[in-house]
Amino acid sequence: MSAATPTTLAEFEASARQKATAFAWSYLSRPGEDGQTHTDNRRAFKRYRLIPRNLRDVYIRDTSVTILGTKLDFPVAIAPTATHLLFHPEAELTTARGAASMNTLMVLSSWSHHSLKQVAEAAPRGVRWFYMLFYRDRGRMKRLLERAERAGYAAIVLTADQPFFTFSFRKVATTLPLDFRFPNIYLDDNPPGPLGSLELAEYFKKTVKEAATWEDVEWVKKNTRLPVVLKGILSVDDAKMAVRLGIDAILVSNHGGRQLDGVPATIDVLPDIVGAVGGEAEVYLDGGVRTGTDVLKALALGARCVFIGRPALWGLAYNGAEGVQQVLKILKDELSLAMARAGKYI
Ligand code: FNR
Repeated sequence: MSAATPTTLAEFEASARQKATAFAWSYLSRPGEDGQTHTDNRRAFKRYRLIPRNLRDVYIRDTSVTILGTKLDFPVAIAPTATHLLFHPEAELTTARGAASMNTLMVLSSWSHHSLKQVAEAAPRGVRWFYMLFYRDRGRMKRLLERAERAGYAAIVLTADQPFFTFSFRKVATTLPLDFRFPNIYLDDNPPGPLGSLELAEYFKKTVKEAATWEDVEWVKKNTRLPVVLKGILSVDDAKMAVRLGIDAILVSNHGGRQLDGVPATIDVLPDIVGAVGGEAEVYLDGGVRTGTDVLKALALGARCVFIGRPALWGLAYNGAEGVQQVLKILKDELSLAMARAGKYI
């Protein structure tokens, strides 16, 4: 590592900011409204205190975890984020390689430049889940589920907290000379019109089902042999509903503060959700995880695994697959050291 290589996620954020275009940076950093939840995600972690148990033999620590039957080297995975092409020319292929190099999981977004299969082929040994949108046509959803199964994706992630898509592809098209494609949304690899065009906007409107309901979640659960993860749960009642529908895992998330502003920090609602779920489903968390002690706090409060959104993109923007790997390695090393110092989770 050169002297200039960032050694903390905060340093990665600062370095990535220098490398990313102004447009990409504003898209990446943008919180919902004035950012109350976004700020709270970070602050809340800092309100919790760890009480260590010292003088235990912590010489060897095991950071590994098994989620939905797959073993990861450590309990930090990559949350689904859209349009990696804004941050690196090889987009999701590169992110997948970075995640695989650390033997952890990446959730591929439907808003990805590369197809499910291409991402699988880029990092064949990687663990991957697929974040699927809801579509008006159930036949299409069924075919997409089968594509994910065939390409070796190990779970389907459904996002519960984004009833509408407000990202402006018109703005991207007029700002950037990038050739965006979304082959996991189009029926084939051919875009129905150039980015920002009316044809494309019409296509999304006609095809993607916004404002999905529990009935859509139930349909997915019944129509795939893969486990289903519900992302974006913040209330005990929604968590119980998910368990009643047989959902395999719940990702406690407020979308990194990018959807409804004014909702609680994820770490604050985690313990109640873990209690309500009562072991009937796995429970994970994302939102504001930036250090090894953040990870340890989430584990101590009942999360089985945490996910990172923006930090993976900082790594990607800074240095491609290697940057993603470095970000993950920092969290792994910090977690391992925090475990030793806390004398717990050995
Ligand atoms: C996201 N997130 C997101 N979530 C989702 O379910 N579908 C998506 O397409 C996206 N896209 C997306 C783009 C960008 C640029 C960001 C930053 C985030 C939310 C993401 O999965 C995750 O919940 C948060 O990013 C976690 O918070 P931190 O780690 O960014 O603080």
